[in-house]
Amino acid sequence: MNTLDGLLDNNRAWASRVKTSDPGFFEKLAAQQNPEYLWIGCSDSRVPANQIVDLLPGEIFVHRNVANVVVHTDFNCLTVLQYAVDVLKVKHVIVVGHYGCGGILAAYENKDNGLADNWLRNIKDVQYRNSAELDALPDEEARLDLLCELNVKTQVSHVCHTTIAQRAWSRGQELAVHGWVYSLKDGLLKDLDCTVDTVEQIPKAYRVTS
Ligand code: CO
Repeated sequence: MNTLDGLLDNNRAWASRVKTSDPGFFEKLAAQQNPEYLWIGCSDSRVPANQIVDLLPGEIFVHRNVANVVVHTDFNCLTVLQYAVDVLKVKHVIVVGHYGCGGILAAYENKDNGLADNWLRNIKDVQYRNSAELDALPDEEARLDLLCELNVKTQVSHVCHTTIAQRAWSRGQELAVHGWVYSLKDGLLKDLDCTVDTVEQIPKAYRVTS
């Protein structure tokens, strides 16, 4: 017995609803995608990109991993970023973290999580570099919330330090990199006001173009 029958039934009902409201919808999308945004978010099932910003298929390009990390040796994320910037010419890259992130908590706690700790080590670096600010907070919830925000800001800078973003800026392509954090408690996104849209905003040591 196929235990996924419910999902396939849902899919048929959804496709039929979409077709009814816009008969040419799938034909249009099959021909091309033209999203303006790349979302780099957490894999958490409670943070689905399209639904949160109420966009249809075709409107947002998405990369998700545990705790929305951008690592310079991660060819998966870099390939998504390159395709989004160079080919799709998205105008906005949005790194989206969320409060209550299990990946952030796992990194914060001094526990052995096995292989995943090697991925979460990237967040431990953020924690260690900001330990004075984090330790000054009164309780663990506040520290974890701040760590979620600091992680987003760090990953925004990692996007900006890539050759992909910098080459786009040097050829005059419009590209802004933003940092947001999502609250599971009320479904609202917060802009962390760390948008970068020119190479001049990144430290000189990280620039690959003069
Ligand atoms: Co998460």
